[in-house]
Amino acid sequence: MTTVLYPGTFDPITNGHLDIIDRSSRVFDRVVITLAVNNAKQTLFTADEREALIREALRTGLPDRTNIEVVQTSGLLAEFARSVGAVAVVRGLRTLGDFEYEMQMALMNRRLYGELSTFFMAADERYIHLNSSIVREVARYGADVSDLVPECVAVALRGKVVESRA
Ligand code: COA
Repeated sequence: MTTVLYPGTFDPITNGHLDIIDRSSRVFDRVVITLAVNNAKQTLFTADEREALIREALRTGLPDRTNIEVVQTSGLLAEFARSVGAVAVVRGLRTLGDFEYEMQMALMNRRLYGELSTFFMAADERYIHLNSSIVREVARYGADVSDLVPECVAVALRGKVVESRA
């Protein structure tokens, strides 16, 4: 069985991420969404909130998939890959701008765990301009992000805005 990791901060998960998860789960036997906690990023959503949003997005967006898991990790991705027998990391490539950073990560991960490959998937062209920060930013000003994120995320973002104004 081929296990791959799809790692990220997912603060929050977007339709761009969901597209990569969808296509990965068609290609590989088992996809472990690896939610990075304790990395340098300050997050809007807690790790548990991010995990719950991923699970809800999967339940509604990809209800037929049984080969997708969600796990929180706080250590090195390469070590986690070794511990679960993952042979690869999947990463979405949006623009050329992603490439240098992605190559650095891929090469470092392989240096740390020689069995680990990285597969790059072309991101959906509808979402190449997208990242989680920009979604958070426009949602903060009350813009409609419902075509960019799963419905549960749009609702959660509205909740955060209300919370921050209270
Ligand atoms: N569509 C839309 N947006 C996407 C996307 C896609 N297909 N793929 C990525 N993005 C967005 C993300 O939401 C993120 O947005 P943000 O920066 O505004 O939050 C941005 O693009 C960058 O994504 P990514 O490169 O996945 O960064 P990340 O911070 O989410 O994930 C880790 C980085 C978690 C994979 C990496 O830090 C890691 O592996 N950490 C574990 C510790 C470790 O092993 N470190 C050494 C690695 S060599």
